[in-house]
Amino acid sequence: MSEREVRPARGPDVAAIEAIWHACLREGAWEGVTRADVERDIGDVAEDPAGTIVVLEDGVVVGSLTTRTNDLSVAPGSRRRGHGRALLDAAVAQAGTRGEPYVLLYVPGGGDPPRHTPARSFAVATGMTYRATLTRMRRDGLGGLLELPAPPGVLLRPLGPDVDLEAYVSLINASFASHPTWFHVDTETVARAHAAPSFEADGIALVAPEDRQGAPVGFVRTYAEADDAGVAVGVVGHVGVLPGWRGRGLGRVLVRWALRRFAAQGLDRAELSVVAANADALHLYESEGFVTVVAWPQWSKDVPSAG
Ligand SMILES: CC(C)(COP(=O)(O)OP(=O)(O)OC[C@H]1O[C@@H](n2cnc3c(N)ncnc32)[C@H](O)[C@@H]1OP(=O)(O)O)[C@@H](O)C(=O)NCCC(=O)NCCS
Repeated sequence: MSEREVRPARGPDVAAIEAIWHACLREGAWEGVTRADVERDIGDVAEDPAGTIVVLEDGVVVGSLTTRTNDLSVAPGSRRRGHGRALLDAAVAQAGTRGEPYVLLYVPGGGDPPRHTPARSFAVATGMTYRATLTRMRRDGLGGLLELPAPPGVLLRPLGPDVDLEAYVSLINASFASHPTWFHVDTETVARAHAAPSFEADGIALVAPEDRQGAPVGFVRTYAEADDAGVAVGVVGHVGVLPGWRGRGLGRVLVRWALRRFAAQGLDRAELSVVAANADALHLYESEGFVTVVAWPQWSKDVPSAG
């Protein structure tokens, strides 16, 4: 009998996790996921190994689960031995201790007509339920976009070194509080991301009332990354506006700022991911010239309630 161990990942496990992810890419398990996606996500794992759970069989890493990027994968030669289930159980237990409502995973397959995949069979067998569809959208051509001024009384500015990180983190969490899928960041994670060498401080813009610059009400986070052909693409990471400030065009001002920033950097394509059920956001992006490239179903496994 082989021995299974499930534990938080450590630095030396990152290479094995990367090899498993590349194996999943090669076998075509992850529709629409690119090598560039894998490289970015593995960079995140390397920065915070303990944010990933690994399963080992006889001391060898054979699978991993990263909640931040909704990735579960088991090495092709080690499947149907309960490793996926063991990883999911560990992630659910961890989510419970953190007060999170559920574990959300990308489950390839589905659509119309439905595509039957091992991942869907796994999701059904382990009691997961379909929750949302994340769509990747793309806009080609970024030239000639006019600047959209912020409405009267509101100023847009890049996130400067003087910005209170706590205020920025609260803004992110409050903007996403009613999001179709649960999304939450903590100050420690954001501080770590901002300390990384690849961090682009001027890639974040805030909007705030003119007379309360320390209390931002909206933000957009952008960065550039190379696609699989080595061409740099502008990525709109997140856009959020506080509920009380919606419907005044701030989201569009922020998205337009991002697109113009990419154009000024010489980029010609922009990408973003949005939950399809988030109709307001979807319409905004469509009206700013984005089209859907791929749809990724997301399923969740609830944390059992304590009561
Ligand atoms: C989906 C995946 C993570 C499952 O990992 P795994 O370790 O093989 O899963 P388990 O052995 O714990 O399987 C648990 C149950 O899921 C179901 N299941 C898993 N794979 C299945 C398949 N290929 N066909 C039918 N049912 C399957 C079975 O009911 C299984 O229980 P059983 O083996 O006792 O019948 C793995 O196939 C994988 O890495 N796929 C590529 C990456 C991917 O698609 N990730 C998304 C994951 S949601």
